[in-house]
Amino acid sequence: MNLNNLLDAASFSAKSLKFPNSWVGHLPFASWIMKEVSPKIFVELGTHSGNSYFTFCQSVVEGGLSSKCYAIDTWLGDEHAGHYSDEVFLALMIIIRSTMLVFRD
Ligand SMILES: C[S@@+](CC[C@H](N)C(=O)[O-])C[C@H]1O[C@@H](n2cnc3c(N)ncnc32)[C@H](O)[C@@H]1O
Repeated sequence: MNLNNLLDAASFSAKSLKFPNSWVGHLPFASWIMKEVSPKIFVELGTHSGNSYFTFCQSVVEGGLSSKCYAIDTWLGDEHAGHYSDEVFLALMIIIRSTMLVFRD
């Protein structure tokens, strides 16, 4: 285990946060495990508005990793997250397009 990754995670600050905030408490862990494992390919199942997904992406950039990150969701919601409209997916696409240059390297 890399102790610097643990210290970085303790002070992790997300650059993109959207409603809902149900996963925000897990973001430091998400950041830590991404840097610790440094996968070639990362696939998130259940992205919703992107809080966890963008944390993984941000950690790839900040950690200088070369992981390719994919987001999968129906973007319809479920019984736990609640059902939601296309606006969630459209808002996610706007963030992806506006941050593409940052995330691409
Ligand atoms: C709790 S939310 C995910 C929270 C998210 N990771 C975050 O950071 O806020 C669960 C998501 O899983 C999605 N989902 C549920 N079942 C799914 C399935 N079979 N295939 C794809 N996505 C699914 C829902 O649409 C919902 O957006």
